Amino acid sequence: MQLPIDIDRNSSLNLQTQVFEQIRAMILAGQLRAGQRLPSSRHLCQQLQVSRITITLALARLADEGYIDTAKSVGTFVSREIPEQALHAIQGNLVHKTPPDLVAQIRSRLPEIRSHSLVNQHAPRTGIDFWVGRPDARSFPLRTWTRLTNKRLLSAGSALTEYRDPTGVPELRDAIANHLRPARGIIAEPEQIIITGGCQEALNLVSRMLLAPGTDAIVESPGYAGASYLFESYGARLHHIRVDEKGLDVAQLPDVAGAVAYVTPSHQYPMGYTLPLDRRLELLAWAVRTDSYIVEDDYDSDFRYVGSPLAALKALDRANRVFYVGTFSKCLGAGLRLGYIVVPPELMPIARRYKALMNYGQPWLEQAVLADFMNTGGYARHLRKIRQHYRGKRDALLKALDLRFGQTVTIGAEAGMHMVWRTPNHLPPASEIVARVLNCGVGVYDLSPRSAVITSGAPENDRYLIFGYSSLSEKQISMGIERLADELEKTHVLARTRVLAATASKQRVL
Ligand SMILES: Cc1ncc(COP(=O)(O)O)c(C=O)c1O
Repeated sequence: MQLPIDIDRNSSLNLQTQVFEQIRAMILAGQLRAGQRLPSSRHLCQQLQVSRITITLALARLADEGYIDTAKSVGTFVSREIPEQALHAIQGNLVHKTPPDLVAQIRSRLPEIRSHSLVNQHAPRTGIDFWVGRPDARSFPLRTWTRLTNKRLLSAGSALTEYRDPTGVPELRDAIANHLRPARGIIAEPEQIIITGGCQEALNLVSRMLLAPGTDAIVESPGYAGASYLFESYGARLHHIRVDEKGLDVAQLPDVAGAVAYVTPSHQYPMGYTLPLDRRLELLAWAVRTDSYIVEDDYDSDFRYVGSPLAALKALDRANRVFYVGTFSKCLGAGLRLGYIVVPPELMPIARRYKALMNYGQPWLEQAVLADFMNTGGYARHLRKIRQHYRGKRDALLKALDLRFGQTVTIGAEAGMHMVWRTPNHLPPASEIVARVLNCGVGVYDLSPRSAVITSGAPENDRYLIFGYSSLSEKQISMGIERLADELEKTHVLARTRVLAATASKQRVL
């Protein structure tokens, strides 16, 4: 460790005093913490190009005044004994805190600070937590991942020490292009693909390219807060377009030129609708007519349990109006922070330069390992396996709801990792249910910002509860619904439901 000490040979202070004062100031300012080891006197002599006696005297004075302790043949440490009060008293004079109005000025650039609900997503939640969009940690292919990582490390060469193409590791871009063709119907060249830090960075990249203060940005309502807050932070003018029982109501798209529309057509977030073909075509025609771009977020399209998946919107995009965004956060894990964006070819040189400005590319090792995982068939096997697991969990949730609440109305259960339950009218509002079941260790979510959702606040929204099921075991799922039902039953609100449940048909329309 090198200490940031500046020796000024023209100073009126002697060298020993300069060393003493600068180390003391670092201790008082908290740059050197109690118990932290200091570099050896030999090391300090070499670094500062001063004599041993200068350092010895400076350290001796620091020790005499109680700032450091020296343990023979162990080392020199910042003292733990500096009295807190004295430290604070002196720090008060030394440390210039950022003035509150400067902090307020910076904070005012964040869209209404509402984005805190995104930051808090990782906060520890409750025992049985139906939080949305989390893969099952037990399903991560740890053994294969470890093997592939070790193999890549052994043959890394200069890959860990050189700057590479900011758009990503070529093998991974190839693998993604090969995956997208059969899985999503998208014909994309690897040269159109940029590897990003998850979907969120892909959205940032598009925003940097397309949004200026006042640009019109269209978002779904209810919709994904991670996109809305981001667009707001770029100064975009937001248009919240209603989602009805088919998905985005494209008839409501504004007639504005040069807009950006963010959509989740495969499995609308959070409502779970799949946008039908006629609306997809209408959306694309709108983009062409208004010189706008569409950002398609296909966040959980790997999971489809009923019928065959509709091809992505991008697959229908003959006019190159769609940026397609994918993520590995759902099928592998959000901790990897890996996603990608398919960019219209003519915009790729610009996007590449923005990506270089942002962070000059994602970490090489994770990209290389993921490429190997995909290219050796491991990824396809992993998807097949977890699809089956998640289908089991989804079925367990549907069954548990049916059992306790009678014939339930669910939305979006045919795909993805979450579904929405339209609660019967005699139950309390969704926000009240959320609060009540939290007390008995069950986390369920309504359409509020705590679920990363942004809504227009329509009254019927308080009838919807979101259930993520992918990270829970089937047993936890049925226990969670049991507890939820028991809690509601406590106040007899379920009395009527139980009678209904006994007679309800188990038929379900999905
Ligand atoms: C609609 C939607 N898009 C994307 C993501 C994932 O983003 P990322 O890839 O940045 O983890 C989420 C995560 O919850 C989401 O709900």
